[in-house]
Amino acid sequence: MKLERLELQIEPPVARIWLNRPDVRNAFDGLMVSELRRVLFGLRSEDGVRVIVLGGRGAAFCAGADLHWMKAMAGFSRDENLREAQSLADLFFTVYESPKPVVARVHGAALGGGAGLVAACDLPVAALGTRFGFTEVRLGIIPAVVSPYVIGKIGESAARELFLTGERFEAVRAAEIGLVRAAVPEEDLDATVEGRVEELLHAGPQAVAEAKALIREVAWRRVESVQRYTVERIADLRISDEGQEGMRAFLEKRKPSWRG
Ligand code: COA
Repeated sequence: MKLERLELQIEPPVARIWLNRPDVRNAFDGLMVSELRRVLFGLRSEDGVRVIVLGGRGAAFCAGADLHWMKAMAGFSRDENLREAQSLADLFFTVYESPKPVVARVHGAALGGGAGLVAACDLPVAALGTRFGFTEVRLGIIPAVVSPYVIGKIGESAARELFLTGERFEAVRAAEIGLVRAAVPEEDLDATVEGRVEELLHAGPQAVAEAKALIREVAWRRVESVQRYTVERIADLRISDEGQEGMRAFLEKRKPSWRG
């Protein structure tokens, strides 16, 4: 697969995707959006790959949507604008519902859609000093397609403050509000990411995918409306090959098959 906007390293069990447009701080345009979706889809069928790490080349993780690209949309028809916005929404959804967990390695800056991309990932870890911000209102626009992921992570209270002011904030604050899971010194970022990857590799691959689906299904819903679903999932998974193997391995005091 020829990639112009990304760099892909597949070293099973891990795939690393690097946003690779450092000149514009990895701002994404239509080509980057479509490449990222294509790569994430491709990784679904890479059986050896169990964890995805998303990072950015150069000085920043991602400066959000390419403002030249966004500005040029004024010359597009309403239908074309809807199509482009939909492709952006599809990208975030593809990250969010990837059956393979996505760890984000965040440094430098994650602004606008870049901060939204962080929110769509499962385990974002940031370097201290990283600048975050939902800066859209300062540009006269809004963080629309990323809002479900961001509000899901940081809640309505922080979203009201940060979406309405567009102010920038630092990694420690991003960790406090739940946008990232940890803020660590930059020199510890790679080791922290590898630690997260290692923890994820302890889990059964099918179980991880099912756990992601479980969170999506259950979050914000009434217990009564999800109870049947939760009952069915555990009833199915405890008799699945992976569930049986995991429990057998524990009882036999050995590693399960997916631990190699
Ligand atoms: N779209 C297009 N180009 C962008 C960009 C974006 N979102 N973000 C940065 N760039 C470009 C800059 O215009 C500059 O181009 P130039 O070299 O032709 O002047 C280049 O990337 C480097 O940016 P610069 O601001 O000089 O780098 P920096 O390291 O000092 O700061 C950022 C990096 C990300 C903090 C800063 O560029 C920034 O605040 N960008 C805007 C982010 C934003 O508000 N995004 C929301 C989009 S919805």
